This record gives sequence, C-alpha cells and structure tokens, in this order.
Amino acid sequence: MRLSSLAFAGAAASLIAAATVAQPPPPGAIAAEHAPVIQARRAGFRLQLAAFLSIKAALARGDDVKTLVLPASAIGAWGRAIPAMFPPGSAGGDALPSVWSDRAGFQASADALVAQSTKLAELAKAGDTAGVQAQFALVGKACGDCHTKYRAEEKHLSERAAVEPLCSLPQPPAEIARYRPNLTTP
Ligand code: HEC
Repeated sequence: MRLSSLAFAGAAASLIAAATVAQPPPPGAIAAEHAPVIQARRAGFRLQLAAFLSIKAALARGDDVKTLVLPASAIGAWGRAIPAMFPPGSAGGDALPSVWSDRAGFQASADALVAQSTKLAELAKAGDTAGVQAQFALVGKACGDCHTKYRAEEKHLSERAAVEPLCSLPQPPAEIARYRPNLTTP
C-alpha cells in the first residue's frame, strides 16, 4: 500500500513534470528569448541616428567632406545588418508586423539605405561637397521610407533632442582619416 502510493506519487510527479515541459512558453518567455537582439537593434539604430546627425552637423559646420567617409560607410554597414536583426518571432519595440509579413519589402528598404549611404561615402571620399549635401538628403529619405512602412510612429524624437547637442562637439577629422583612410564601402 505504502509502496504503491509512493509509486503513484512518483508517477504523478512525472506527469506534472512532463506537462510542464510540454506546455508552450508564455508570451513573455518568447520576448525574453529575443530580448538581446531587440536590445542590440535598438542600440544599433541609436548609433545610426548618432552617425546620421554627426554628418548633418559636420555639413552645417562646413567641415571637409572627406572626414565623412567613416560615418557614411558605418550607416551602410548597419543597413546590411538590419534584416538579420529582425529574426522571426522577435516582434517588439516599435517594429510593425509588416517587418515579417512583407519581408521582401523590408529587405528592399534596407538595400536602399545601403545603396544611398555607399554613394554618400564615395562622394565624401571624392571630396564632392555639393554631391555629399544632395546625397545626404537621399540617405535621410531611405531612413524615413522604411520607418513609414515598418516602424510604429516616431515616438523617439526626444532621443533626437538628446543626441543633437553631441553633434556640435568638434569632430576629430585627422583621427578618422588616420584610422580608416580608404574606407568607402560598408
Ligand atoms: C529597413 C528599414 C529601416 C531603415 C532603412 C532604417 N530604420 Fe530606423 N528603425 C527601423 C525599425 C523597424 C525600427 C524599430 C526597431 C525596434 O523598435 O525594435 C527602427 C528604429 C529606429 C530608431 C529608434 C531606436 C530605439 O531606441 O528604439 C532610430 C533612432 C532609428 N531607427 C534611426 C534610423 C536612421 C537615422 C536611419 C537611416 C540612417 C534608419 N533608422 C533607417 C527600420 C529602419
């Protein structure tokens, strides 16, 4: 009697354990699994904005555009990485469901950013100030085109206000040129 009730308890415990394992993870657990990639992509986008605004500030200051090769190519490098930063099931943050339902369009938007920023880096390397100024607007348009379709409303404008003052810090053009003199492709 005693043994069989022990056996019963043991069987019940196994069943409970099996049921626990078989249950799908709660929604919170799925988000937790992807939390690092969501955190990484949002950090990447903030750095993206910082690079973008640093170019804007440099143009406003009238800096030599040859100093903008690095931030321009960094924007392109991130553009190449964007699609992989949104693996299936990593919905969260401000990403709209269309990121996953319209994958080809999302990829095309990332490709457009790569193309526009690569051109920006090339114009910068050539020292073409007027060309860089015109091309910079097209890079901004590539950001905006993707956000319109794949990002929830711009509720991070406060970040822009936070980043903008940093852009007025003097750029270290000689340093940048020394580290990455020939960098034109992302
Ligand atoms: C291919 C699409 C795409 C392109 C191109 C793109 N973004 Fe985004 N961006 C997104 C999506 C989607 C999010 C929302 C990500 C999230 O919340 O997980 C986002 C979020 C952001 C954020 C907010 C990050 C945060 O802290 O939540 C900033 C800032 C940003 N993008 C800046 C830029 C800038 C600047 C450019 C262009 C130089 C750019 N993005 C180009 C899709 C894009």
